[in-house]
Amino acid sequence: INTIGVLTSGGDAPGMNAAIRAIVRTAIASGLNVKGIMRGYAGLLNEEIIDMDKQSVSEIMRRGGTILYTARCKEFMTEEGQQKAAEILKKHGIDGLIVIGGDGSFRGAQKLSALGINTIGIPGTIDLDIACTDYTIGFDTAVNTAVEAIDKIKDTSMSHERCSIIEVMGRNAGYIALWCEIANGADGILIPEKEQFDEQDLIETILSNRLKGKKHHVVINAEGIGDSNRLAKRIETATGIETRATILGHIQRGGSPTAKDRVYASTMGAYAVDLLSGGATNRVIAYKAGQFTDFDIDEALAMKKTIDEYQFLISRLMVMY
Ligand code: F6P
Repeated sequence: INTIGVLTSGGDAPGMNAAIRAIVRTAIASGLNVKGIMRGYAGLLNEEIIDMDKQSVSEIMRRGGTILYTARCKEFMTEEGQQKAAEILKKHGIDGLIVIGGDGSFRGAQKLSALGINTIGIPGTIDLDIACTDYTIGFDTAVNTAVEAIDKIKDTSMSHERCSIIEVMGRNAGYIALWCEIANGADGILIPEKEQFDEQDLIETILSNRLKGKKHHVVINAEGIGDSNRLAKRIETATGIETRATILGHIQRGGSPTAKDRVYASTMGAYAVDLLSGGATNRVIAYKAGQFTDFDIDEALAMKKTIDEYQFLISRLMVMY
């Protein structure tokens, strides 16, 4: 390997810049050239490729988002698009590519690997919805942002003795919601992985908690369930308790990354360069059972992730009434 390309793809996540910085600096220290590919696979197809040096990643670690920008790209999903992308990479002398993103982005890396480009994926998403790993870049920051926001909503909810429905991100996964339930405390949680916890159960819990003397209520609703405003109306009608919905939204994607996201993302970045230097391809970096490791992308994409049952049980046991 002589030249490594790096791109960020899919939703941005705090800590992506730390990974980019680590890739650039460790690659240059190993005598490799590094090129940044702007706007994910879309930018690759448009040949938006820049040279990177140690200076170009200076002071980026504490910044949220991604300095390389990101995009979702339809053209790259086609065989012609993938062929064109591989040709562009070869034309620019890029023989190793690091893709920071989620499962969709890894599928792209898998295709490029089959077309002769050595590729490594780094899990970057606030959703934590990548099966092969217990850690994804950005989740820690996103959860901390959500926890802080929910604390604030609780202050006003308590003062008005209201019920608050708080919708957190996560696409089809409930990890941010589950962590917030444990970290903030709530009357209930609605997550896609546990559909049996339905709205009627929730209404009954809120009513019974009120009867036992609870003066305010918080429900954490995962984006994958959604419909928070309708849910708030339904709860208000059924319980007579004034209810408000707050959708936290993209605030969860921004902000300066936590120390954990900076350190883990840096480690994954350096690890990816090491793998490429050793001739590896079609691998994805993971953090599993307390260790950084890597998997074949095909194997990683075939894995299924389920919510941690013990963690879910703990979240239930923490409910006060
Ligand atoms: O994957 C990260 C994420 O923030 C999800 O939680 C959410 O469903 C989605 O991206 C939102 O995407 P967009 O910013 O394109 O609306």
